[in-house]
Amino acid sequence: MSAVRTPAKHFAPLAIGAPEPYRALPVRIERMIHFVPPHNEKIRSKIKDIARQVDVVLGNLEDAIPAGDKEAARQGFIQLARETDFGGTGLWVRINCLNSPWMLDDVIEIVREAGNKVDVIMLPKVEGPWDIHYLDQLLAQLEAKHAVTRPILIHAILETAEGVKNVEAIAAASPRMHGMSLGPADLSASRGMKTTRVGGGHPDYAVLSDAGAAAGAGRARAQQDLWHYTIGRMVDACLAYGLKPFYGPFGDFSDPAGCEAQFRNAFIQGCLGAWSLHPSQIDIAKRVFSPDVNEVAFAKRILEAMPDGTGAVMIDGKMQDDATWKQAKVIVDLARLVAEKDPERAEAYGFRS
Ligand code: GLV
Ligand code: MG
Repeated sequence: MSAVRTPAKHFAPLAIGAPEPYRALPVRIERMIHFVPPHNEKIRSKIKDIARQVDVVLGNLEDAIPAGDKEAARQGFIQLARETDFGGTGLWVRINCLNSPWMLDDVIEIVREAGNKVDVIMLPKVEGPWDIHYLDQLLAQLEAKHAVTRPILIHAILETAEGVKNVEAIAAASPRMHGMSLGPADLSASRGMKTTRVGGGHPDYAVLSDAGAAAGAGRARAQQDLWHYTIGRMVDACLAYGLKPFYGPFGDFSDPAGCEAQFRNAFIQGCLGAWSLHPSQIDIAKRVFSPDVNEVAFAKRILEAMPDGTGAVMIDGKMQDDATWKQAKVIVDLARLVAEKDPERAEAYGFRS
């Protein structure tokens, strides 16, 4: 039995009067998903400034919000959503997980009060396509009831062993899917990994050079990327279904170099952005998830040398063909999106914004 609706029904709204699902995701730059605690009045008062600096503002209602503040966080999010013009900046909310006492009211109240302002709902601890189907149906009913005109998208956090096992079915579950983020803290706990860190590497996860090769000198040891396997699976599942993959949180704010290295590994592997949990991580994400100026210049040369995208040419001694043309197009398309948001980078890329 297939877990997916027939092609004919795949894009039909799940409630009479709900908006039609998107056939292709809206094109947006989402280098960082910036987390804010919406019950904090000081943060709410600065939300316009924050929105100007980031690509996505996310009101966090789940982990890190104390149980006693859950309702204040929900109300604070509704208030900031209603009162703020976010312009081209995305507005997301991370709701509580499906088996929590808060999730149902999070969805009902947010769609009722701010359904036309919210772009994406981030759903934590997704285990399988059934979790997406439930939220999909509920959102369609609420969108119809409250005359929401654009479909609210779902972004799943990949943070349980079962979720990783089902990652492709989650990606395929609905045209409402926006993408996924890796949740390394919950995932470590779910898998029984021996780390208390939130993302990043671990000094004991390393490869030692061969015993025979060392001959007296100390053996070289290199720390490995703990998240490589999961990110690889997530990127393949997302890209196979036209969704966007993201690295999630990096919890050690005192280690900007470690954060940048983790973000960069994810970027090179195919991720489009990461979470910023601290203001210092906004610039790190901009640096990492905006393509490199020299890479953009080289990619532009490839596109110019092969106007119809076929054949083979040599540039600086390197062979280019139809496949490298596609690689170059990924980089130049991304640079154009960045340029629209960021005049300094537009200049550096040689685009007029
Ligand atoms: C994020 O939610 C994580 O668990 O890492
Ligand atoms: Mg988590």
